[in-house]
Amino acid sequence: MARSEQNKLPSHVAIIMDGNGRWARRRGLPRFLGHQQGVKALKKAVRFASDQGIQSLTVYAFSTENWQRPKEEVSFLLDLMHKTFVEEIDELHQEGVRIVLVGDRSNLSADILQLWQNAEGLTQDNTGLTLNVAFNYGGRQELLHVAKVLAQRAAVGDLDPAQIDESMVNDLLYTKGSPDPDLIIRTGGEQRLSNFLLWQSAYSELYVTDVLWPDFNEEHFASALDDFGQRERRFGRVGKKE
Ligand code: FPP
Repeated sequence: MARSEQNKLPSHVAIIMDGNGRWARRRGLPRFLGHQQGVKALKKAVRFASDQGIQSLTVYAFSTENWQRPKEEVSFLLDLMHKTFVEEIDELHQEGVRIVLVGDRSNLSADILQLWQNAEGLTQDNTGLTLNVAFNYGGRQELLHVAKVLAQRAAVGDLDPAQIDESMVNDLLYTKGSPDPDLIIRTGGEQRLSNFLLWQSAYSELYVTDVLWPDFNEEHFASALDDFGQRERRFGRVGKKE
C-alpha cells in the first residue's frame, strides 16, 4: 500500500545527518569533502520532504559541541553553510520553503546571525515545508535557556512557578511553531540522540540506518517513511493489539 493510502505520513521528520567524515575516509578523501557531499544529500532530502507533503523537517547541521572540532573544519563548515545559503535561498523561497534557525542566537557573530535573519525574513510567509536548521544547537542548552527565561519571569513576579506547564515550555523552545517530531532518522549507524531535541523527542519514533549521510537518497528516505507507517504509536498508553 502506498504511504498516502495509509495516511500515516509523519508531520515532522528530524534528521541527524551523521557519517560525512567516514564517507570521506573510506574513499581516502579529506573530511571536508564528506561535508560537501553531505550538502548534496541535504538538498535531495529537503526536496523529497517537500514533495511528499511533510510539514516540518529539522536537520542537525551544527551542534554546540561542534565548535570543538579542529578550527579548519569549523571554518569550512561555516563557509559551506554560507555558500549553500547564497546558492539555494532563491530556489527554496520559490518552492515555498520557510527557513527557521533552531539554536542559540545569543553568541553568534553578527555576520552569521545576519545570514540567518535574511533567510528567515525572506521566507517567513511561505506556507510549504518548514525547514528547521539546527545550528549552534544543543538539547540541554535549549532546556537551560527555557529554565532561565521562566526563572527570570518568576523572579520579577510575572509568573507563578506552580503554573508552569508543558505548553509554556513548548513556547520557549527553539522549535516553537513545529509539532514534536514524529520520526527521527539517524544516518551513520550510531544508536543515540547526541543532545538532539531532548524535550521534543519524548514520543518520537527512531529510525537508524547504517547508510552514511552523503549516500542518503530519496529511496532511503522513502524506506524510513514506510517503516514509520508500520509502527504502532502508543504515547504511553495501552496498544490497540493488547
Ligand atoms: C556529521 O558527520 C555531520 C556534521 C557535523 C555536519 C552536517 C552538516 C552538513 C551536512 C552541511 C550543513 C550545511 C547547511 C547548509 C546547513 P561527521 O563529520 O560527524 O561524520 P563522522 O561521524 O563520520 O565523523
